[in-house]
Amino acid sequence: MSIIEKAAGKLSVPPAPAPRTDAESPPRESVIEGAVRRSREAPAAAPMDDPATIWGSAGDDEGRARSQVQPVNMARLAHMGFITQDSEKSQAAEEFRIIKRPLIANAFGLGTARVKNGNLIMVTSALPGEGKTYCAINLAISMAMEMERTVLLVDADVARPRVPEYLGLQADRGLLDVLREKDLKLSDLLIRTDIAKLTVLPAGRTYKRATELLASSAMTQLVEDIGNRYPDRIIVFDSPPLLATSEAGVLASHMGQIVLVVEAERTPQEAVREALNHVQSCEVVNLLLNKATPTPGSDYYYGYYGSYGSYGK
Ligand SMILES: Nc1ncnc2c1ncn2[C@@H]1O[C@H](COP(=O)(O)OP(=O)(O)OP(=O)(O)O)[C@@H](O)[C@H]1O
Ligand SMILES: [Mg+2]
Repeated sequence: MSIIEKAAGKLSVPPAPAPRTDAESPPRESVIEGAVRRSREAPAAAPMDDPATIWGSAGDDEGRARSQVQPVNMARLAHMGFITQDSEKSQAAEEFRIIKRPLIANAFGLGTARVKNGNLIMVTSALPGEGKTYCAINLAISMAMEMERTVLLVDADVARPRVPEYLGLQADRGLLDVLREKDLKLSDLLIRTDIAKLTVLPAGRTYKRATELLASSAMTQLVEDIGNRYPDRIIVFDSPPLLATSEAGVLASHMGQIVLVVEAERTPQEAVREALNHVQSCEVVNLLLNKATPTPGSDYYYGYYGSYGSYGK
């Protein structure tokens, strides 16, 4: 893998205790390692009719009015080591700037070919607890804070939804409900946040066949509708682990881009290989090394680095 981004400087992430009992590692830094890229010549899908019924088009007051507005608990986020509006110069903020840059370029054809459905970005990993939700939230916040585009963060980990908990939002109905009840409108279930361009779709009420719904044709339709109707917006999906559930692989097949989180010194190489097999159908797969430990003598010792390059073309 080639390194195309490199920066130096001593940076620090505030130590934040993990909110979950199964989180053993202290907060550490995220580093992009590499990328898988395939052909990206397909044209962007044409918008469909009636956009306001599902999410409200840019500046659509009706859609906005239907959405709830809730404050994000910034103090809690900061405590957990996430990006916040007050930590724009933190190490995490710098790293996610590097991480998002090629994703945005691919999504909107900025200096590169536009990737089909490139605005649909799924954050996933091979195994539980590797930092999918951490990275999905940071990516969404980073994009929402610094872009002139609206970001929708979808909690698609219906078995273990954590997005509202991490952000400090009250969630009720969401993705599962809109998949089950045809009459529900997505715009009624969205939570608008006080991060101006960040909107959240919670996972929704638990349901015994919840995971099957993610792999259903209703989900296929929903994802395609969102992607086609809103090619000017970014939709970030927080997903279940690829090797623990089958629906994550199905979800991946609808995405334009995948961010595959790999936990430094923990995710086995074989699990990464197997996870890559599960997302083969996606045009662009980016590997993100999370929780890397700075070691004296390595590039990392001097700061952070990230790379997007060819991987196993
Ligand atoms: N780079 C990081 N810096 C600080 N904390 C992190 C980092 N990555 C993950 N964490 C913390 O590790 C814990 C697990 O992360 P997270 O919930 O994002 O994992 P996950 O892959 O989404 O887990 P699951 O498979 O259960 O959904 C959380 O407490 C999270 O805040
Ligand atoms: Mg998660």
